[in-house]
Amino acid sequence: MSTSAVWRVLFLFAPLALTAAVVAASYERAHGQQREPDLEMGARLVEARCVFCHQEKSLPDLVDRCSREHGSEYLDEFLKDHHAPDDDARQDIIAYLTCPPHLLPPK
Ligand code: HEC
Repeated sequence: MSTSAVWRVLFLFAPLALTAAVVAASYERAHGQQREPDLEMGARLVEARCVFCHQEKSLPDLVDRCSREHGSEYLDEFLKDHHAPDDDARQDIIAYLTCPPHLLPPK
């Protein structure tokens, strides 16, 4: 293959490769938001961030009452300013605290 033919091939494939990379990156980003909550991580986070002030046993009831009184969106908004500003951690904490006890991972 002559040098100019190589360049032509490169010019043809560069935009394709770039498009593929952009598509892959946005797919990853969209997918990242739908990560499965990690209940074990939630348990550890509650231990580290909440039990200093709340009794762990009373937290699921508090959270439940809170959501019933103010709606399901409220808890997420409340915890953003209440010891769980980071999205992944907050998702894990909420999943853990709202999980039916029989579905929780053994300690
Ligand atoms: C420094 C002490 C402290 C820590 C740490 C703490 N809380 Fe609280 N929390 C409070 C106090 C005090 C209140 C009641 C006053 C208020 O609403 O802010 C409260 C209220 C709440 C409420 C009820 C909100 C409402 O509007 O009814 C929930 C739910 C809650 N906390 C969950 C958590 C979770 C989950 C964590 C861990 C991520 C946590 N808290 C960490 C002190 C704390």
